[in-house]
Amino acid sequence: MVGQTLNNIDKEKRMERQHTYIFDLNSPAELARLINQDRFLTQAMGGPLAGLPTLPARAKVLDVACGPGGWVLDTALERPDLDVAGIDRSEPMIAYAIARAQAQARTNATFGVMDITQPLDFSDATFDLINARLLLGVLKREAWDAFLDECTRILKPGGILRLIEPDDGGSTNSPTFEHLSSLGMKALWNGGYGFSLNGRTFGMAPELLRKLKQRGYQTALSAFVGDYSHDSPGWADFYHNTEITTPQLRFPLIKAGQLTEEEFDQLYQRELAEMWGDDFTALWHFVIIYGTAPARQPQQQDIHEG
Ligand SMILES: C[S@@+](CC[C@H](N)C(=O)[O-])C[C@H]1O[C@@H](n2cnc3c(N)ncnc32)[C@H](O)[C@@H]1O
Repeated sequence: MVGQTLNNIDKEKRMERQHTYIFDLNSPAELARLINQDRFLTQAMGGPLAGLPTLPARAKVLDVACGPGGWVLDTALERPDLDVAGIDRSEPMIAYAIARAQAQARTNATFGVMDITQPLDFSDATFDLINARLLLGVLKREAWDAFLDECTRILKPGGILRLIEPDDGGSTNSPTFEHLSSLGMKALWNGGYGFSLNGRTFGMAPELLRKLKQRGYQTALSAFVGDYSHDSPGWADFYHNTEITTPQLRFPLIKAGQLTEEEFDQLYQRELAEMWGDDFTALWHFVIIYGTAPARQPQQQDIHEG
């Protein structure tokens, strides 16, 4: 059923409630950035389902905060025998994902608008696999427990929750990229995102791993890294990503008094110029946490006692 929509919030409430995404979820530039980023990250991961056990035919898969739907569509193409759903808060991204699914006649892919900071509109024990990539800038640190409880509720016992998060914004040899990146990371941390003690890293994996173990999951870890240096095929993707993400830091950094408008604009131009250098190097590391859901869903009480 291509184009099916799943809504857990009526239109008026959707308009009223503030979202916590650090970027503009209705911006065409952000949509374009996510199409690009999905492609280069899935490639660096070795494919959409790399590292996972083979799912049985007709297994149900959910991608939370799926953006313009790239991971869902790649998975639905690779495994036409799976039912793959994607949910996201952004109406333009979901409209785009539905249009892509229709154009590709990908009848095993469905998309819907849903807010993952609210109870999810799915029955208990529905999914065999839940995939969640890059929620670092979506959920504030205090929102993660409720989100993981919802994932646990809608996963089948023995189902897999896969969380994929970076530990920083990439390691480069551009002094200006590094400077802006550390200011951006600190601003995020001050804004309530990430679990590191001081904002030096995002600190996602250690805390998410602990939270899954607390809920009775069997866990495993792996990692991947993408090369976005000037001489690598991924450079242009990383460059375009930076071209769109850095300006989105302008307002928060100026508002926080970290930089003046003039300073920010100069740093942004210098960052892009340094990325064009022949000797520019960049690696971006991600940690993947695989959690196998417990046979019995733990009760709230178990979690708070454990
Ligand atoms: C960094 S992007 C990651 C997209 C995708 N998971 C990927 O890795 O390609 C974050 C996504 O979260 C979505 N989002 C933001 N707030 C949300 C919310 N409250 N509920 C659902 N999706 C949300 C945004 O629209 C955006 O598509």
